[in-house]
Amino acid sequence: MKNIVFLVIIALVSSSASSKVTYNVTSFGAKGDGNTDSTKAFLSAWSAACNSTKSAVIYVPTGTFLLATAITFAGERCQSSSITIRIYGTLVAPFNYAAIANSGDWIRFHRVNHVTISGGTLDARGGSLWSCKTSGKSCPSGATTLGIYNSKNIVISGLKSINSQMFHILLDACTNARLQGVSISASGASPNTDGIHLISSNGVTILNSKIATGDDCISIGPGNSNLWIQTVACGPGHGIRYALCNILFGCSIGSLGWELDEPGVQNITVTMATFRGTQNGVRIKTWARASHGFVTGALFQHVTMVNVSNPIIIEQRYCPDKNNCPNQVSGVKIKDVVYDDIHGTSATKVAVKLDCSQGNPCSGIRLKDVNLNYVRGNQPAVSSCAYAAGTASGISNPTSCL
Ligand SMILES: *[C@@H]1O[C@H](CO)[C@@H](O)[C@H](O)[C@H]1NC(C)=O
Ligand SMILES: *[C@@H]1O[C@H](CO)[C@@H](O)[C@H](O)[C@H]1NC(C)=O
Ligand SMILES: *[C@@H]1O[C@H](CO)[C@@H](O)[C@H](O)[C@H]1NC(C)=O
Ligand SMILES: *[C@@H]1O[C@H](CO)[C@@H](O)[C@H](O)[C@H]1NC(C)=O
Repeated sequence: MKNIVFLVIIALVSSSASSKVTYNVTSFGAKGDGNTDSTKAFLSAWSAACNSTKSAVIYVPTGTFLLATAITFAGERCQSSSITIRIYGTLVAPFNYAAIANSGDWIRFHRVNHVTISGGTLDARGGSLWSCKTSGKSCPSGATTLGIYNSKNIVISGLKSINSQMFHILLDACTNARLQGVSISASGASPNTDGIHLISSNGVTILNSKIATGDDCISIGPGNSNLWIQTVACGPGHGIRYALCNILFGCSIGSLGWELDEPGVQNITVTMATFRGTQNGVRIKTWARASHGFVTGALFQHVTMVNVSNPIIIEQRYCPDKNNCPNQVSGVKIKDVVYDDIHGTSATKVAVKLDCSQGNPCSGIRLKDVNLNYVRGNQPAVSSCAYAAGTASGISNPTSCL
């Protein structure tokens, strides 16, 4: 018995000592001087890590590393059982937005499995593109800072992303991802700089993160299921919303890519979140257009609102500028949405607004212990319902309209 234990210990020690191999990006020519383009060096380090038959670590030391063009880390042919990218420094994009603005993503991972990105700062230096956009000139939509596609078993831990051109982090068609201790910030006046955007992903967990951007903190597009969002601080910005339309393919612009057959959103939990001075708190928004999409099973629990304009909102008549959807009703069915222990202050009188679809009314809405006060303390908050069915229990402030 003793011998067996001894052998097992030897095996564990030797396997942990020999099963990991580290690649330092500086050994591949990267320079943390802020000026030397390190794109090729990062790709070479990735290629070596990916070819390794062991678990690989890509080490990025302190310093400022310029990635002057868009970069893709492809995983299809990787042999390594896992790759950890341990970043101590900062990765920066060029100041001139044009270098990456038309590439979709600045840093892209495609078909990777068991990849961890830990620590570090990504600074896409989006300022010049925001100025272009706000000046009313015609400018590119911009690149997502970190886009991860068709991937599995992803961990993003302790990463900081600042000043993205567009979305900060995008997960598209990913399974089993964990984002923790992530910090995201961009000026409140920066257009479309969503914090984390999720599309068609399953089993994404977002924990202990801080997001303050010019747009949604977390936006959930079609096809997502089994999401768990816990202890996220949002604001200033626009708040967590559900956008049942894929804004990457043009529905924010108008007539492109509006799919009738959008996949639904299922089993979403948002717990212990704080919203501060945001426009929206927990929001489900659908376009007033025909759709087979749905939202089934969402739980919003233990949420603190501080001066939020629309703390609880379902908005199914969304049709900005009355463009392409006048007089249409949303086909998206919203069912089994629970709001449990939502408390704090509303910046507007209507603290709870459930504006559902005339053609496909909401059902199974449950309000439990909702306690929201209008910031102007001399007037009570109110709720407003249209085509919404469900129940209210426990504290009901404002008085429920269900
Ligand atoms: C990586 O390279 C840098 C610069 O050469 C060096 O300072 C650092 O100690 C190296 N780190 C590791 C883990 O190899
Ligand atoms: C990785 O393997 C591929 C194909 O076997 C090869 O073309 C490439 O040069 C290798 N890269 C490195 C850095 O060894
Ligand atoms: C809902 O998602 C959570 C993870 O967020 C998962 O643990 C749970 O099993 C899912 N529930 C169902 C019914 O699939
Ligand atoms: C609440 O937010 C509004 C804007 O939505 C702002 O004008 C007001 O000063 C804020 N009040 C407090 C107490 O922060």
